[in-house]
Amino acid sequence: MRIIELEEVTSTNDYLKAHCEELSDGTAVTALVQTAGKGRRGHTWTDDGGMLPFSVLLKDPPEYETLTARVGLAVCNAVAEMYPEPPEIGIKWPNDVIISSKKVCGILCESVCFGARMSIICGIGINISQFEEYFRAVGLPNAGSLAMLTGFTPNRRKLLETAVREVLSYASTPFAECLEEYKRRLVNLGRPVKILGADGSERLADAVDVAPNGYLICRGEDGFFEVGSGEVSVRGVDGYI
Ligand code: BTN
Repeated sequence: MRIIELEEVTSTNDYLKAHCEELSDGTAVTALVQTAGKGRRGHTWTDDGGMLPFSVLLKDPPEYETLTARVGLAVCNAVAEMYPEPPEIGIKWPNDVIISSKKVCGILCESVCFGARMSIICGIGINISQFEEYFRAVGLPNAGSLAMLTGFTPNRRKLLETAVREVLSYASTPFAECLEEYKRRLVNLGRPVKILGADGSERLADAVDVAPNGYLICRGEDGFFEVGSGEVSVRGVDGYI
């Protein structure tokens, strides 16, 4: 396992993008401080030093469409490994890692192409030790940290190494082999959801299943339809979950 450790970086995803060609498959990078962290759908990902940011470079990974879901599972398992008695850890589709209805980790997978080769950079931010006041102050009422939600602060280095190992393991596991595990972790299944399109549209439905390609199968007024993670955000009808 190769982990590059930096004092400060704009974004660990951007670092791997810039050095993708010379770095080998499976290389991870982390930093004490990320000054321009990126979230999904163009959001920023802020940090007060209590978050563990890291990214893993995967060159030509198999089944890249479901990678983002499998990375969510990897993080759930890594976090669980930090506890003798793990808390209940769920996934809000497609890959927000949730404890007690709060988001403790965000995942941003980005692709980089060089000719016919495609690499995926899996960027992961785990909230380890921030306090509730921090999330309130930065306008993130649905976020929480492991310390805040479990009363225990995992060792940063141990969590990092465990998470990178789990990501590399799930990256080579076919989704068919972990689909049932993914469904067990999903907090949305069997619940009403609101599907928010990038264009501002809203659609109400019930989340009923997950397709073999990772899409969320929903039942709406006009019947069943599938939702892919690209252009939409899925929320509970009454809030985040
Ligand atoms: C989300 O919006 O939920 C995804 C957040 C992903 C944040 C991580 S922190 C490490 C990596 N570097 C980034 O700039 N973003 C990801």
